Amino acid sequence: MVKLGLIGCGAIAHTHVSNLTSALNNGEVTAIYDINKDAAEQINQQFELNAKVYESIDEVVNDLNVDALMVCSRNDAHVDPVIKAIEAGKPVFVEKPLATVASDCKKVVDAELKAGKRLVQVGFMRRFDPFYIQLKDEIDSGEIGKPLMGYNRHFTTRPATNYFETPNMINDAFIHEIDITHWLFNEPYTSVQVQYARPNSLNTATKLKDPQIATLHMKSGAIVNTYLTQNSIYGYDVMCQVIGEKGIAQLPDMPTIEVRKSGKISHTIDEDWTKRFITAYQVELQTFINEVADGEELTGPSSWDGYVAAVTADCAIKSQADESLVPIKLDDMPDLYK
Ligand SMILES: NC(=O)c1ccc[n+]([C@@H]2O[C@H](COP(=O)([O-])OP(=O)(O)OC[C@H]3O[C@@H](n4cnc5c(N)ncnc54)[C@H](O)[C@@H]3O)[C@@H](O)[C@H]2O)c1
Repeated sequence: MVKLGLIGCGAIAHTHVSNLTSALNNGEVTAIYDINKDAAEQINQQFELNAKVYESIDEVVNDLNVDALMVCSRNDAHVDPVIKAIEAGKPVFVEKPLATVASDCKKVVDAELKAGKRLVQVGFMRRFDPFYIQLKDEIDSGEIGKPLMGYNRHFTTRPATNYFETPNMINDAFIHEIDITHWLFNEPYTSVQVQYARPNSLNTATKLKDPQIATLHMKSGAIVNTYLTQNSIYGYDVMCQVIGEKGIAQLPDMPTIEVRKSGKISHTIDEDWTKRFITAYQVELQTFINEVADGEELTGPSSWDGYVAAVTADCAIKSQADESLVPIKLDDMPDLYK
């Protein structure tokens, strides 16, 4: 049994712990920390974890009854526990984004290089989604020819709360498309541009410009557009379409059953993000647990993937200031990640 120390006990922690206690094998939470102790106590009680609730990250990391860490705190509170876990030689699963700026991701990469082995898995769970995997297999098979361009839709259900400001669209939402597009096209980005479409009058988040269109350019000339909104009135909607030289491959428009009734064909659309990727959340965490249990080096999305996404995100946030095309420059990939 892999004993997990949980840092951060909000919405996504509930999803992961629910999966751990109902669907996954060989993992249990034995220690918990949240800056808000009530949140730590609440998750401990709700899922009857009988874990130790600690007052600090250090106590969780150094607990002898903790084999590995799960970092599910807010975006700007990932780096400290991740580096502490690496320094303690303990594998760590960390939610996306690895950090909110590339310079902090670099600190994680440097700590991992010092440790000499991969100890970090970043929560880019779409790479574990069965449909995205089929999409990648189709592209890699060459059946649609070289990928030329693509389209992503990332619509999250309204109302966008005041937590959401314009830059959040990048690190909370677009970061998923940054990672998955890079994974699907298997080549580096050269530039990114963010533009604003007609403002949605239903948007009540005062510091959020919504909707946004982000364009990723690649070395080969391939271009991928992503349409983003936090104010989807009809439900949570993610789509990805890749157009190749010989054909098109895309996710199912809505991965729910089709119903024909009363003169209509219909699909149910999820109300929020919690259901669409439930299998992906389960497979990503089970993969992490299995590799930790077997003492294997981690193979899921790496801290280098987190760094690549963060460099791109930094440039996208820069572009948000004036909607300009911002060039992307990456450091060379260290051998550890090849
Ligand atoms: N992979 C996905 O699809 C997905 C979905 C949702 C959230 N997330 C990511 O998961 C993380 C958490 O998001 P959420 O929706 O659960 O947010 P949330 O606001 O519901 O929960 C965040 C929790 O972190 C705690 N926290 C804040 N600062 C902390 C600190 N310094 N140390 C310890 N705990 C701290 C808060 O008290 C809160 O309990 C974010 O990084 C988010 O981007 C990923």
